[in-house]
Amino acid sequence: MSVGQNIPHDSSRGHVTGGSVFIDDRPLMTGEVQVLPIGVPAAAGTLKSIDFSEALKASGVLAAFTAQDLYHNSWGTIVPEQPILVADKIGYYDEPAVLLVGTDMESLLRAKKFVRFEVEKGPAIFTIDEAIAKQSFIYKANAFKVGDADAALAKAPHRLKGAFECGGQEHFYLESNACIAYPLEDGQMEIHASSQHPTETQHVVAEALGLSLHEVVCVVKRMGGGFGGKESQAAPFAAMAALVAQKMKRPARLCLSKDDDMMMTGKRHPFKNYYEVGFDGDGKILALKAHLYADGGAYADLSSSILDRAMFHVDGAYYLSDAFIEGSVVRTNLYSNTAFRGFGGPQGTMTIESIIEDIALYLKKDSLHIRELNCYQKDVRNVTHYGQNLGHNPLPDLFTELKKSSDYVTRRQEIDAFNARSKTHVKGLSMTATKFGIAFTARFLNQGNASVNVHKDGTVQVSTGATEMGQGVNTKIQQVVAHAFGIPAQAVKVMATSTEKNHNTSPTAASSGSDINCAAAMKAALGIQKRLAWLFQNILAGTPMNDIAECPTLDEAQLRFDEFHFEDKMLTHLPSGKSLSWEDIVKQAYFNRMSLGEYAHFKTEGLGFDKKTSQGTPFKYFTNGVAVSEVQVDLLTGEYKILRSDILMDLGRRINPGIDRGQVTGAFVQGMGWVTSEKLFHNKDGKLLSHSPTTYKIPNVQDTPRVFNVEFIENHENRENVHRSKAVGEPPFLLGISVWTALKDAANAKSKGLISTLKSPATPEDMLLELARHE
Ligand code: MTE
Ligand code: HPA
Ligand code: MOS
Repeated sequence: MSVGQNIPHDSSRGHVTGGSVFIDDRPLMTGEVQVLPIGVPAAAGTLKSIDFSEALKASGVLAAFTAQDLYHNSWGTIVPEQPILVADKIGYYDEPAVLLVGTDMESLLRAKKFVRFEVEKGPAIFTIDEAIAKQSFIYKANAFKVGDADAALAKAPHRLKGAFECGGQEHFYLESNACIAYPLEDGQMEIHASSQHPTETQHVVAEALGLSLHEVVCVVKRMGGGFGGKESQAAPFAAMAALVAQKMKRPARLCLSKDDDMMMTGKRHPFKNYYEVGFDGDGKILALKAHLYADGGAYADLSSSILDRAMFHVDGAYYLSDAFIEGSVVRTNLYSNTAFRGFGGPQGTMTIESIIEDIALYLKKDSLHIRELNCYQKDVRNVTHYGQNLGHNPLPDLFTELKKSSDYVTRRQEIDAFNARSKTHVKGLSMTATKFGIAFTARFLNQGNASVNVHKDGTVQVSTGATEMGQGVNTKIQQVVAHAFGIPAQAVKVMATSTEKNHNTSPTAASSGSDINCAAAMKAALGIQKRLAWLFQNILAGTPMNDIAECPTLDEAQLRFDEFHFEDKMLTHLPSGKSLSWEDIVKQAYFNRMSLGEYAHFKTEGLGFDKKTSQGTPFKYFTNGVAVSEVQVDLLTGEYKILRSDILMDLGRRINPGIDRGQVTGAFVQGMGWVTSEKLFHNKDGKLLSHSPTTYKIPNVQDTPRVFNVEFIENHENRENVHRSKAVGEPPFLLGISVWTALKDAANAKSKGLISTLKSPATPEDMLLELARHE
């Protein structure tokens, strides 16, 4: 019974002992070279020339390559418009333009300052409003319409109009982008990359080098974190390393420094969302009109898909009877923004959570009342603004339970009393929700494949397209396969991901890596289970060894598969009670010349969304949760503490409760970092200034809630997914928003009627400025 158990993460020992191998831990090969990408020192304009002649004279420097050396110099998951190396038009400051190659990194860093760029600077755009004014767009989405938003707004007793703004976020994975390219025979290339998307990395490398896809293999053992940042943007760096390997016929290693990684790669999309909301005197939302603007940065990347997900999540956990939601991605001269945990969902949901705080202030009511009033219900008011029925909807129960278990009502009274009394501090309290749609919104990505190999001693190797980035997907796959065969988890190893074994895979993303790849692995395991059961059925029937043929397909097999059970390292025939040990049945299968390997393909059923009408079922199901946070702000300095956060999530029946707890806790802390201290600063030329841990503030342990309760509800209604589990990777990220709404609630407590203009992130400085507005 492996499923449901708290077995340790398959890399936990390796991570604490140093045994886990990351890209830059791979031993140097003879002749291997190091690659240092260097970016252009301008955000817009034209790159006229690069002079690296002086750099080439420096000791340890072997070569330099530019755009001209590439066979094909554009890539892009959705729109292939981004150069791998700048050729002429500059997209953003520090955009890679030249690859300096040498024997060691120290020499390259010394030589870097001798590289000269001749640039003709052009006009640059750095903000969403400037981009709107200059009509600089990457993508405009079809509007989502439900009911008649204009009419409902006109009739609404109360209206609020405003713009909600949230900032970007650096992924801050501990391992920067890294890859090594090994040139093989006949011009083939083997890439080891820190990538969430080995298939795309394979494809981008092949195109850049003029190879066919079958000439490139991409291997991913693990990442030291990805968080979406390595979904698309790992690929161009692999192409850079591969270019060097191809030209020099030597292995080439490209491992970015933290600073270069932060300056060169895209981040979470900042959004500015203009809205008008209509509501009644009790706080019931009657109409929402909104235009979401995402800052895509210089190139399209995944921005259109991210905007789509923001538009899907602008309802948060709340029913919208009449809504009109538009969306655009603007093009600016900043690094190309990309996937980041939540993929637009947080930026959409936070808008309505912010609006609800405004409504509460305006009506002088508690925001939880507004939330309960608008929360999606179970039988009525349970269809989203894009027409998806929520099915079994645990949100009302989650709100009710957390309200009780967190002692919300009493604490609200205590906080009100504290705020009336205190001259030095103000407290805030707020409960928010996550209702995260599970599936890639691009339907074709909802597929995966797996192969399962049983060896003669009964141990098992599994390979899928999933990539391990710390989230525990390997451990979950290990558990479901061990469970299928009734063997201990230790008897199953999940192997490095490779495009040679699993091809045409989707990125490990959209929180569905575990869903899709566990399902594929279970399907493959089932094929082997059936053959073994067939063999045992023949053994029990006394069929002579030599006559046991290959297992026919199930229909013809007359296999009574239901009569067989795999548990405790035994295969048992239930009607007779006879069993055979796992090792024995495996040996018998081998000597009977039966296949002990199986490959399976899986696709998520039931998805259908019509982009023209913006109606349908984009998601397989939703993962839901609620969180309530309490903050205390120092009125003199704006500094604050998170006194307490309580989280309640519905993850169905968890495959590995411990791993899921880690995901919920980590995602919440990452989410609260986004809305509190993680602020990106650029100089007037568009160069990122906050490009290291000293200038970019992620939460540390003291920033986390002083009291932190993470709980789960029992949900036996969920039948959608692998062993009735629910995806966990991204949904709890959105719960970090409760810290920001609590800060807003604290500022609102000092408001004499002014609607808040607080943006996200709300740093202590921002809190001080907001409080000053109310003095
Ligand atoms: N957890 C860790 N430790 N490291 C990561 O990089 N990425 C998150 C989430 N949890 C991430 C993580 C993101 S963005 C996604 S989409 C999911 O994991 C991907 O994995 P899954 O689909 O297997 O849950
Ligand atoms: N989520 C995450 N990553 C993605 C998606 C999505 O919906 N679509 C394409 N990449
Ligand atoms: Mo996660 S942003 O879907 O990689």
